Amino acid sequence: MAADSRIADLLSEGMKALAAAGIGAPAHEARMLLGMAAKVPLAVMIGFPERSVDEAAAAAYRALIARRADREPVSHLVGEREFWSLPFMVSRDVLDPRPDSEAVIEAVLEALPDRARGLRLLDLGVGSGCLLLTLLRELPAAVGVGVDISQVALAMAQRNALRLQVADRATFHLGNWMDALPADAGKFDLIVSNPPYIRSEEIATLEPEVTRHEPRLALDGGMDGLDAYRKLASVLAQHLAPNGLVALEIGIGQAESVTALMTAAGLVPAGMRLDLARRERCLLFRLDLI
Ligand SMILES: C[S@@+](CC[C@H](N)C(=O)[O-])C[C@H]1O[C@@H](n2cnc3c(N)ncnc32)[C@H](O)[C@@H]1O
Repeated sequence: MAADSRIADLLSEGMKALAAAGIGAPAHEARMLLGMAAKVPLAVMIGFPERSVDEAAAAAYRALIARRADREPVSHLVGEREFWSLPFMVSRDVLDPRPDSEAVIEAVLEALPDRARGLRLLDLGVGSGCLLLTLLRELPAAVGVGVDISQVALAMAQRNALRLQVADRATFHLGNWMDALPADAGKFDLIVSNPPYIRSEEIATLEPEVTRHEPRLALDGGMDGLDAYRKLASVLAQHLAPNGLVALEIGIGQAESVTALMTAAGLVPAGMRLDLARRERCLLFRLDLI
């Protein structure tokens, strides 16, 4: 079996399996997975493809190839995904942090006049923790509460809080949006949320990495994608401090409908942020104090 473990053979075998599974860049991914499993540097793969790796490394590589051919996201194989240049642990229990969600962080930081203030933050649907924990890193005097209806997602957010060294300023509650909060939770200076906003029937049309390996709970926004915004609109104002800010991530084409829902519930639009593809991605609201 030694011949099977030649770098060139392993790469060719892996590349074929990934190409057959519809992976867009099979050669690149096969090299990356061989690097991960066998710690073979790229220069060796290219310069000395006739060299062999030991059987344990070859088996680890083949296991990774099989998982990737099943369209498991690369982030799940690696166990982490970068967001705002911070490493977030991820798994099939949480939505992978998306670069587009950095628009929420940018919008919030730009809107806050004094980042050194002791703000109270709330993240509804905290998932991996990417929004709440990034904000806690950027706002050193802030404290934050993360809510999620998924126990396993909350466990991941807690692990990420520890790893990112903000666990002493973060608390987590399990439950349905605001119902999860204790009675004495008080008001928040900043409420962020990236709720599930994909139309139910659209989910089946997304990439297999999403439909088969990310939690449906994190994706499904109901028939028109707006179920969670409707629910949030009815409860945001009562939990917002007088000068507080709400920052909502939205899906493509949802700006008008979400703005209508929030204004009908007594909030006023306070800004908008585009994502990397220049689509409306984050809406800001404040209380209508008049
Ligand atoms: C789109 S994900 C966002 C995760 C993370 N905040 C992010 O930006 O990557 C939505 C999150 O909302 C949570 N969620 C869905 N329904 C919920 C509910 N009724 N109450 C609280 N959390 C909910 C999901 O479990 C999921 O973690």
